[in-house]
Parts: sequence; structure tokens; C-alpha cells
Amino acid sequence: MLRNRILGSVKFQHWAARLPIFAGVSRARAGRAFDLVAGFCYSQVLLGAVQTGLLELLDRGPIGAEGIAESTGLSINAATRLARAAAALDLAEEVSPGCWMLGQQGAALLSNPGALAMVQHHPLLYADLADPLALLQQDRREPTALSKFWHYNTETDGKTATAYSQLMASSQAMVAREALAAYPFARHRRLLDMGGGHGAFVSAVAEACPALELGVFDLPPVLAGANLNPRIARHHGDFFATPLPEGYDCITLVRILHDHDDSAALKILQAARLALPPGGKLVIAEPMAGIRGAKAMGDAYFGMYLWAMNAGRPRTPEEYREMGLAAGFSGFQRRRTAMPVIASMAVLFD
Ligand SMILES: C[S@@+](CC[C@H](N)C(=O)[O-])C[C@H]1O[C@@H](n2cnc3c(N)ncnc32)[C@H](O)[C@@H]1O
Repeated sequence: MLRNRILGSVKFQHWAARLPIFAGVSRARAGRAFDLVAGFCYSQVLLGAVQTGLLELLDRGPIGAEGIAESTGLSINAATRLARAAAALDLAEEVSPGCWMLGQQGAALLSNPGALAMVQHHPLLYADLADPLALLQQDRREPTALSKFWHYNTETDGKTATAYSQLMASSQAMVAREALAAYPFARHRRLLDMGGGHGAFVSAVAEACPALELGVFDLPPVLAGANLNPRIARHHGDFFATPLPEGYDCITLVRILHDHDDSAALKILQAARLALPPGGKLVIAEPMAGIRGAKAMGDAYFGMYLWAMNAGRPRTPEEYREMGLAAGFSGFQRRRTAMPVIASMAVLFD
């Protein structure tokens, strides 16, 4: 394509970088290209900063390399290298030569336990992505680190169920905030959260909508580890095999469908359709594909994460509209969220 040949031409890049009207754009483009090349290293700096406790340490106040070395167990040399890398990424800030405090990105991350838990979980993803070509070529036929971590079925042992449920619960607050701002749950009488894990989402809804009756449906080993408010009903089962409880006029699927391949996702939608009364709504909230401003998160991050998990894919809201029709829903509405990198929303109804 001509456009790509021009943009890829060394002569054009040299000329554009020096022409005042193009210089800003071409520098930003070059910066983005280098970020793509170096992004893996940036993620490792973040992981190192989280694993060593550097962010918490810097949050306590400015500190020099010796203090960082003492607290993290690294050599002074290694501590300086990590602090400088963290400062370059805005995780830290060098307030005076050789003295660091928490940077703006570091402060934002430190206040977000869900993001920190994901950072600590990422070594499993990095292990699966160590050879991306091999991962793509094996075409989901071999077990992966992520497929072993996300092991869903009625025989899942309590330890596995607790590990993934705690990870999910830690990042649920930000998802619930998006969902509650985008959809008026208080208009309903009874809400069932399908695959609701340890109940973090329904607990947030319970607080925001005091009149709503609430229930969680999940696998027995997951609910066995949940500490739920007595106002929330527990429904044990396998949503591929156990009929859902009836009488709930709103069913939520929060970060559920993207974990499943199309035929399984369709079964989940059909099960929800069967359980909803006339006028009931099915609310889907999860990071989706093809969303303006969040495409990298949808198609690149979740696309590869779910590939490595050996199940599921990120879908566009339009794909959910079509799957909803196939499952027997006639109505579809897309609800915009302020932070689609965290979750987008689609509503299905009759
Ligand atoms: C990715 S987690 C999402 C948890 C929660 N909705 C959230 O957003 O934090 C998927 C949830 O679906 C549950 N799940 C998976 N397969 C299931 C099945 N066949 N029947 C019932 N629950 C299932 C898992 O146990 C887990 O709690």
C-alpha cells in the first residue's frame, strides 16, 4: 500500500522529523513505535517495582539508593538501575540526584489493588508468551500456565478456585464502578450475578441499590470460599448443566463470556434467556474488542491473554448483539462506560 511505503521510507521519516509542522506528529509516531518494541521491558520494570515493594517504599518518602538496596535486598547497583528505570516510566521521580520518591503513575497504581494483583499474576502470562510464535502454532492444543490457573469445573479444587476468585475480586471494584455508572440496576427488583465468584460485584450493587434482592450463581468450590452478606442468596451449580434459578428480572455476566469459545458462550446466553421473566434484562460487562480508545486492551491484551488461556476471545458489542439474537433475545442496547479499558457494556432483552 502506498501510504505504508511512504511512512516506512527512511527518507520520508528523516524529512518529516525536521519539518516544523510534521515534527511533533512524527516524533509521537516514532515514540509509539519504540514503545511497541520496548513495551515488554517496561512491564518487567513495573513487575520488578511491585515484586520488590519499591512502590510502597517510595510512597513512604524520598529515599536514596542505599535505602532502596537495604529494603529490597538488591545490590546498590541493581537498586539504582531499577529506580532509574522506574523514574523513566513515571513510576518513580528523582527529586534530587540519587534520591527518589513515588512518581505519578506509581501513585495511581499503588492506589489500585486490582491492577497490582494483575501485575503480580502476569508472570504466568509471560511464561506462556515467552515464545509467541510457538503459542500461536500450537493452536490451543497444549496445556498452558494460564489454562491451569483458570481451571473451571465442578471438580475444581478449593485452592485453585480461591486463587482465581481472589484475583478477580481484587480487580472487581473498578469494574463495578463502571457498571454501576453505566446501568440503572436499581430499576430492577431482583438481580442474579452469573459466575459471580466471591460476590464482589453483587456486594458493590448491594451497597448502591439497597432495595434490590441479590443472588450469586457459581461453582460449588467457589461459593464455598465466599464470605457473603446474608442479604445475598447463594446458588451453587454449573451454568452449562444446572438450570438457573428463576424470578430474577436482571441477570449479569461480568467478565464471563469472553472466557468462553462461541458455542459455550451461546449456551450461557441461552441459559440466561431461559431463566429471565418477560421484560427481564441480561447485562454483559467486560472488556470488549473494537472499542474506540480501548482497542489495544481488547484485541491485543485480552486477545493474547485469552488465546494463552486456551479458551474464549474478546468480542465486539455487535457480536454480542448477533449472539443475543441467536440465543433468542430480540432487543440489544449498548451502554457506554467512561473507562472501556476496564469494561464495556451490552444489554440483551426481549
Ligand atoms: C473470570 S471469573 C469472573 C468472576 C466475576 N464475575 C468477576 O468479574 O470478578 C469467571 C467466574 O465464572 C465462574 N464459572 C466458570 N465456569 C462456570 C460454570 N460452568 N458454572 C458456574 N460458574 C462458572 C468461575 O468460577 C468464576 O467465578
